[in-house]
Amino acid sequence: MWGALEFWSIPFPELNFTVPYVPTPKHVAREMLKLAKVGPQDVVYDLGSGDGRIPIMAVEEFNAKKAVGIEIRSDLVQIAREEVRKRGLEGRVEIIQGDVLEVPLGEATVVTMFLLPDLMELLRPKLEKELREGARIVSHEYPMAKWKPVKVVRLEDKYMYHTLFLYEVGKSF
Ligand SMILES: C[S@@+](CC[C@H](N)C(=O)[O-])C[C@H]1O[C@@H](n2cnc3c(N)ncnc32)[C@H](O)[C@@H]1O
Repeated sequence: MWGALEFWSIPFPELNFTVPYVPTPKHVAREMLKLAKVGPQDVVYDLGSGDGRIPIMAVEEFNAKKAVGIEIRSDLVQIAREEVRKRGLEGRVEIIQGDVLEVPLGEATVVTMFLLPDLMELLRPKLEKELREGARIVSHEYPMAKWKPVKVVRLEDKYMYHTLFLYEVGKSF
């Protein structure tokens, strides 16, 4: 039987996503980038970048050489690109509209993500294949199955707990 989502996912592949948009609070995003020790030599990729807050912060506050957000939803891509333009960061922050499973990731020295375990499981072999030695990965909320975290950080704010998992290529897998 044809459900509404199945029907719409054919002409509009961007609607065929399973991870909802829930922005990482900015203070948590800052801790993610601190945990990965982002600096001027880094190229930061946020997988499922929402409104672009993590790539923007990586460049503005951590002086990353470059940051890339990959986002499947065109409305969020538009919001993020507009924010990048307003802040004059076009040369250093790129927002790609696409599926994280299809965009090459080999350039990243730091990867951040706030995704659900099913999609992370699909991403795992891609990250293992494409990321270079020493690249760091920070996952907000969910651990990557089979990888050994280098560090786990628990944050608490007024509303909830946040768990951050830091991995490193060569140490964690
Ligand atoms: C929980 S939100 C996190 C947003 C942002 N990274 C942050 O931390 O504020 C997950 C984002 O991933 C996007 N997403 C889900 N599946 C995706 C996929 N296959 N490829 C690219 N983006 C995806 C969603 O549209 C959503 O914006």
